Amino acid sequence: MKNPLRKDLVSRSRPEACTVVIFGATGDLTHRKLIPALYNLQIEGALPAGVKIIGFARRDKSNEVFREGLEDLNKQVSRNGHDQEVWSEFAENVEYHMSEFTDADGYKRLADRLDAIDAERGGKGNRLFYIASAPSFFDDILDQLKAAGLSDNTEGYWSRVIVEKPFGTDLPTAQHLNQVVNRTFQESDTYRIDHYLGKETAQNIMVLRFANAIFEPLWNNNYIEQVQITCAENLGMEGGRGGYYDQAGALRDMVQNHLLQLLSLVAMEPPTDLSADGVRDEKVKVLRSMRQWDTPELVAENVVRGQYVAGHVDGKEVVGYREEDRVDPESKTETYVAVKVMLDTWRWSGVPFYIRVGKQLPKKATEISIHFKNPPSVLFNALSDGVPGGNVLVIRIQPDEGISLRMVSKIPGASLRLEPVKMDFKYSSSFGKASPEAYERLLIDSMAGDATLFARRDEVEEAWKFIDHIENAWHQSKTPPKMTEFVAGTWGPKEADDLLAAAGHQWRRL
Ligand SMILES: NC(=O)c1ccc[n+]([C@@H]2O[C@H](COP(=O)([O-])OP(=O)(O)OC[C@H]3O[C@@H](n4cnc5c(N)ncnc54)[C@H](OP(=O)(O)O)[C@@H]3O)[C@@H](O)[C@H]2O)c1
Repeated sequence: MKNPLRKDLVSRSRPEACTVVIFGATGDLTHRKLIPALYNLQIEGALPAGVKIIGFARRDKSNEVFREGLEDLNKQVSRNGHDQEVWSEFAENVEYHMSEFTDADGYKRLADRLDAIDAERGGKGNRLFYIASAPSFFDDILDQLKAAGLSDNTEGYWSRVIVEKPFGTDLPTAQHLNQVVNRTFQESDTYRIDHYLGKETAQNIMVLRFANAIFEPLWNNNYIEQVQITCAENLGMEGGRGGYYDQAGALRDMVQNHLLQLLSLVAMEPPTDLSADGVRDEKVKVLRSMRQWDTPELVAENVVRGQYVAGHVDGKEVVGYREEDRVDPESKTETYVAVKVMLDTWRWSGVPFYIRVGKQLPKKATEISIHFKNPPSVLFNALSDGVPGGNVLVIRIQPDEGISLRMVSKIPGASLRLEPVKMDFKYSSSFGKASPEAYERLLIDSMAGDATLFARRDEVEEAWKFIDHIENAWHQSKTPPKMTEFVAGTWGPKEADDLLAAAGHQWRRL
């Protein structure tokens, strides 16, 4: 009998050789993430033989100078260290292509070079185009690829595109980008990257839920009281990030993509198979079921936005957001947001999903916590200390990736006193090795033609629909919900605590 799960798992382990063309190859993303990811795949023997890498950018550079720049960064950031012999072997397959993104001749020269590489391989070859440039160039790059005939699939060979975030700034811009991408590449050849989905712990959400018998029966509104998704950062606008961030804000930068993707993995129904569309069909249903906060009053009731003012983080004095480099001193951009999401589905009716994300918070941590309902209070509630809260399942995405379960236990001794205890699983100690970087997994999946961990067109658009209502209430309504200030190094504005307190809930202390 056909077993789609088996077929899918087998295909995932067989990435195919290809030429990877990176647009924006002299940039930060290529140096810090993409090349180290490809190098680490090589060191672990996971990169298919015959992969070539072409870096496309406009600066005048020789192959040697380009490789030296990549090597310098790889030495600093590579997860498996830097082995000179492996690097030399890897770097032989890396070259530089100088061109403006808008220069048709540059793409013609690229096409000739790709043909020459294919000829060395003995025929036609697969091509993976990675657009690691600012979104304002997406249209030009995609149109030029099409005009140069580089997006065509020829029999037996593929041409795919990976597109970086941000995928639009609102629903209309995302729809426009989708049109541009899909007039050049078929949707099945389009890989919209959301690096959170490449993280081991995010992938493990489905395994935890569907490969264990004990969670799924409880995974609904009968047993779950509330769910919290937190993404806290203890940094501000270091490294010149203020320019980009001040245009985006926490809601668009983090919630629209990473956090709603995590929410959909937690809340989705079991897919019928593990194919990319099987999984994404279920995720998009979750996004469609989000109750829309589509008036300023609903936004004021269910969303809190905040901005940090000067304070102390990790014992160091930090400036307020409006004093940060490249930030408008009058900025109305939120650095913190807390959102209550309600899913109108049978499974989740009445269960709030609270999302919070912010900069300059007390620590760096991304986690999902599932708060189970308290058991009937008939046995232990008469104890003088009471029962200390209920079960909480915590999925730590970063750092210290792992899962813990909070349970109530008796303190040893003659008297009956209860205390919460924790069962803890850590990836590093259980499997004895660090998790691969998200980009490693995502690059290898795109070579294997597996789009499961990439966002599909409809997912991106559904997420923007939800976000746009909030942005409109903040920036376009006559009665915008207020922006609250909070001191850097604290856990956000008091209003975020009130949001949960209204339902008798509290943020988990991290
Ligand atoms: N950096 C990250 O960790 C990160 C993480 C997630 C997403 N992203 C996204 O990834 C994208 C790239 O980010 P980045 O940080 O790598 O940007 P970046 O450091 O500013 O690099 C931009 C690249 O684009 C090239 N470029 C710009 N204009 C060009 C033109 N007209 N013709 C040819 N090349 C041109 C630059 O080449 P020259 O040097 O030759 O000018 C450079 O290689 C952005 O969309 C960003 O939002 C980045």
